[in-house]
Amino acid sequence: MATVQTAIPRSVIWEENSLSLLDQQKLPHITEYLKITSMKEVYDAIKTLKVRGAPAIGIAAAYGLVLAAFSYENSPIDEFLKSLKRDADYLAGARPTAVNLSWALNRLVEKAGSAQTANEAKTDLLHEAICIQLEDEEVCRTIGEYGLSLFKNGDKIMTICNAGSIAAAKYGTALAPFYLAKEKNISLEVYACETRPVLQGARLTAWELMQAGADVTLITDNMAAHTIKSKGITAIIAGADRIARNGDAANKIGTYNLALLAKAFSIPFYIAAPLSTFDFSISDGSLIPIEERDPEEITTFGGVRIAPEGVKVYNPAFDVTPNELITGIITEKGILSGDLTEAIAELA
Ligand code: MRU
Repeated sequence: MATVQTAIPRSVIWEENSLSLLDQQKLPHITEYLKITSMKEVYDAIKTLKVRGAPAIGIAAAYGLVLAAFSYENSPIDEFLKSLKRDADYLAGARPTAVNLSWALNRLVEKAGSAQTANEAKTDLLHEAICIQLEDEEVCRTIGEYGLSLFKNGDKIMTICNAGSIAAAKYGTALAPFYLAKEKNISLEVYACETRPVLQGARLTAWELMQAGADVTLITDNMAAHTIKSKGITAIIAGADRIARNGDAANKIGTYNLALLAKAFSIPFYIAAPLSTFDFSISDGSLIPIEERDPEEITTFGGVRIAPEGVKVYNPAFDVTPNELITGIITEKGILSGDLTEAIAELA
């Protein structure tokens, strides 16, 4: 079968010992890479959603820790490791829900733990950060292959938020099947929910799929039920920020709504996520910390105030979809289905 080359954007670039991050706050109007020179800048970029998406913030944080380590004096290894642990904890505090952040940082801290000198540790840390990024690209492509096996030519698939290439090393998770479909000339229609309040669907998913020439249609979040019915949506796919041992999955606020709709319309609801998004230390989704963000994300729109001054606001950035609403979790090790607690135990 002929394959087609598609333009697939990247959000985290490490080149010649220097880090650049695609400023996702400026998309889709401005495509600008920020030159990042310090750990503090990485922390701020994660906190302010300039870099976002679970795997991408893990990768960015890993390079952030490398930048921190490169700035240390060549101290004895014990002192070096103490500073490294302190800075890893600092970076891990940038956002609480996506477990990929602490997963990547722990991997680096563990790697440095076997070095004999600070210099050796610095080399090892950079190598590990690059490995994490390269592995994620492979993993996302594999998720895409498994995901695509669930869809057929002409399917109409709904998604939310942006679990795409710029939310990972490349390809993304929930959007990976669409890139591979494009390569293989399989025609899929994507319906992207705009994803209030910060519009990752409208600004990012629509932008990156259009660049790849994918067939994407934008809707507002409250159009989901009507669109499923009127357009004959065949499946829903979303990413994840943290998955508990029983398969409960945290993802962008609104994902749970879609899972309930999928059940009401008897269509499959899939979560696509790498193993780095599984938190094997927690039994269920009630233990997943849910980030609450600035009320201004809701009370203003494009910088213009839309709600009365002083109104009370609740702004959780994520929700948890209970395992019984998930038809399958698409991972790089295959598609988990049936009893998710059992499937995840086997995976662990
Ligand atoms: O707040 P965000 O934009 O970082 O939220 C991102 C999501 O919820 C994504 O769906 C998730 O991180 C998976 S990215 C492959």
